[in-house]
Amino acid sequence: MAPTNHAAWLKAKQDPIMVVEEAPYTSPAEGELVIRTKAVAINPADWHIQDKGMLVTKFPAILGCDVAGEVVEVHPSLANRFAVGDRVFGSANPLFNKDGVYCYSGFQEYMIPKPPQIAKIPEHTTYKDAVVLPLGVNTAASCIFSKEILNLSMPLHSDGGKGKTLLVWGASSSVGACGVQMAALAGYDVVAVASSKNHDMVKGLGAKTCFDQNNTTIVDDLVEHLKGKDVVGAYAAISTPLTIPLCCEVLDKCGGNKVVASVMPGAEAFSSRGVSVQANFVAMHSFVAEGKMTAIWEWLEKALREGRMKCMPPHEVVGHGLGDVQKAVDLMGKGVSGKKLVVVL
Ligand SMILES: NC(=O)c1ccc[n+]([C@@H]2O[C@H](COP(=O)([O-])OP(=O)(O)OC[C@H]3O[C@@H](n4cnc5c(N)ncnc54)[C@H](OP(=O)(O)O)[C@@H]3O)[C@@H](O)[C@H]2O)c1
Repeated sequence: MAPTNHAAWLKAKQDPIMVVEEAPYTSPAEGELVIRTKAVAINPADWHIQDKGMLVTKFPAILGCDVAGEVVEVHPSLANRFAVGDRVFGSANPLFNKDGVYCYSGFQEYMIPKPPQIAKIPEHTTYKDAVVLPLGVNTAASCIFSKEILNLSMPLHSDGGKGKTLLVWGASSSVGACGVQMAALAGYDVVAVASSKNHDMVKGLGAKTCFDQNNTTIVDDLVEHLKGKDVVGAYAAISTPLTIPLCCEVLDKCGGNKVVASVMPGAEAFSSRGVSVQANFVAMHSFVAEGKMTAIWEWLEKALREGRMKCMPPHEVVGHGLGDVQKAVDLMGKGVSGKKLVVVL
């Protein structure tokens, strides 16, 4: 008999309170498996969808983009890769549903994280550690490695980026921290921008040098530092109408590849000084179609097992149980610095 499932339901557009109630249990189709969710991470997208009424149109809905949990059912097509009882982490996706059922969303007890964005958790790693990674890795990888954006070397073969420099603006954010780690592991010299209080963390992820965005001379300081280096572009992990022009100005003045990879849909409108701004949403089509998403998740499982990739930014557990998800999303709306909010289920 199928287990009883519960979810934190967003019953209507911009409803300020999610309600925990029973939800359908969906068995896996071909290429799918089901997990019993043990930890969920909270992302700005969860807050934006609820507060601003963005992206999700069918209600009642279930949100949540990052999950970790224990495999409870595996479709035979995946039996050579996963087994019941495996500890895994992966991407959830509230923008998809199956015949109206939000079986791919994170904020529920049983859900379907879709391969290839799923990997086994190493023995020494907890669910609450691993759950900080999925959306950060997907977003950073798509911005940095997809051919339409920066098209840099993936970290699969360590030093493709040797001798080249990448600017990462917003390096202490979740998507920034994942970008710093993967670019550094691919051999790039990462020059990072984050608040001073987070510089130790960002350097611990592999950044060579850190600058503080609050410093009024930030642009001049970066230009001075980057001049003469083989700059392959900028990854704007925090993209705003203020930060994008600053990235453009730095790239314009320091020479090198004049492309800014942005996490803000529509960021192209803020391009200036002849620098190209390319925005990512979830993952670029080619990144998935050309097998790079599969490759990065296979690499991620191995890199985590070998201790090369770290579960960063660090988690902060802000709740236990689906009833605390709303509190966590409200906290996300107030903003975080150098951490990922997690609810343990
Ligand atoms: N396009 C996509 O596919 C996609 C996917 C996921 C996320 N996103 C977007 O990506 C952005 C980051 O998401 P996230 O989950 O990584 O956010 P997050 O971790 O919640 O971001 C918090 C961090 O932002 C940094 N920050 C804020 N303003 C900054 C500025 N002006 N300059 C440099 N750093 C600044 C803060 O750094 P300090 O505390 O060090 O100052 C803080 O550590 C969000 O806008 C999100 O909506 C897009």
